[in-house]
Amino acid sequence: MSEEFKKLPTHIAVIMDGNGRWATARGLPRAEGHRVGTEAVRRLIKACVDFQIKYLTIYAFSTENWARPKEEVNGLMLLLESVVVNELESLDKEGVRIQHIGRLEALPGNLADKVRHAIEVTHNNEKLVLNIAWNYGGRDELVCAIKHMIQDGVKADDVNEQLVSSYLFTSDTPDPELLIRTSGEQRLSNFLIWQTAYSEWVITPVLWPDFSKEDLRQAIIEYGNRDRRFGKVSSSASK
Ligand code: FPP
Repeated sequence: MSEEFKKLPTHIAVIMDGNGRWATARGLPRAEGHRVGTEAVRRLIKACVDFQIKYLTIYAFSTENWARPKEEVNGLMLLLESVVVNELESLDKEGVRIQHIGRLEALPGNLADKVRHAIEVTHNNEKLVLNIAWNYGGRDELVCAIKHMIQDGVKADDVNEQLVSSYLFTSDTPDPELLIRTSGEQRLSNFLIWQTAYSEWVITPVLWPDFSKEDLRQAIIEYGNRDRRFGKVSSSASK
């Protein structure tokens, strides 16, 4: 682990917020905020690899985002395509394993196949697991998990927290220790509602397109200073 950090999270989850405000403040269309926001995603991935973070989950398109103007939704889909097609080779070279959480089947055209292809190509990479939350909603994820449990004939007595976790889209991902939200908003917005039960929150006023490696460094440092008690008393208080 890099010596600059007291504690390093294994998994960082990020709510990338503020693309629209960033664009509006510059007199630009919202789409430009999303485009520059995609550059910030690329920067974040590189920074996570540099800092030896093992899992990164980014909230890029929620189940609620379909209600945005059609043009904006289409533009976001094109950006996803640009990442899983045009960036695939360089992400693969960097050792990034691409995964997806949410419902792929609703994506337009053959975009779902392009995402599946990127998942397959990068399957053996080990530097960083990148979970792209796309057409993702935390409640939808729980509904999906409950349906599958019923379909599998799971008995009520066998339901426990571990079992529920194993039915989520994130079944092979540890819970995030650190959740970052940009643009100063203080809410979870239906993101990883089960998995973030004990995550430490770092909320920064920085708008997503401006989020830098230095902002990530500061968030990890802040996480390192937190006393994580998980409902117990702190280790120093119990001495
Ligand atoms: C929230 O900002 C951001 C989104 C809904 C989209 C996030 C998408 C990207 C960063 C680019 C695409 C990413 C990938 C992985 C291809 P907002 O538009 O709600 O901002 P506002 O609250 O200021 O309007």
